[in-house]
Amino acid sequence: MNLSHIEHLGIAVKSLDEAIPYYENVLGLKCYSVEEVPSQKVKTAFFKIGQTKLELLEATAEDSPIAKFIEKKGEGVHHVAFATNDLPAALAEAADKGVQLIDKTPRGGAEGLEIAFLHPKSTKGVLTELCFDPKK
Ligand code: CO
Repeated sequence: MNLSHIEHLGIAVKSLDEAIPYYENVLGLKCYSVEEVPSQKVKTAFFKIGQTKLELLEATAEDSPIAKFIEKKGEGVHHVAFATNDLPAALAEAADKGVQLIDKTPRGGAEGLEIAFLHPKSTKGVLTELCFDPKK
């Protein structure tokens, strides 16, 4: 699989309003975008560090995957997202090698990316996202 870099880390938080000041005032990063993704029932806040981003995720509904994650595990790192220049090929390779796919075909994510998730059961417990940026 031809991955170029870690596109972002997804971090589950209870409240963006409470989490953003830590990233800005302590780590000195700048939140450059807040975006709601209704299909995922989340609100996201983005920070950039090098060519990697941090994606803070707040649930917008009780049945949001982020609400369920926080209920089970508390706040913290939720997923790792890798950049690929050929998402369908990466998904086909993962499936070929026995990895369970959450998304069999790419779908739209935040920031105009095409994304797909691999199941943590197949990835040693790390929810893994593969991203393709059609703007690049
Ligand atoms: Co993500």
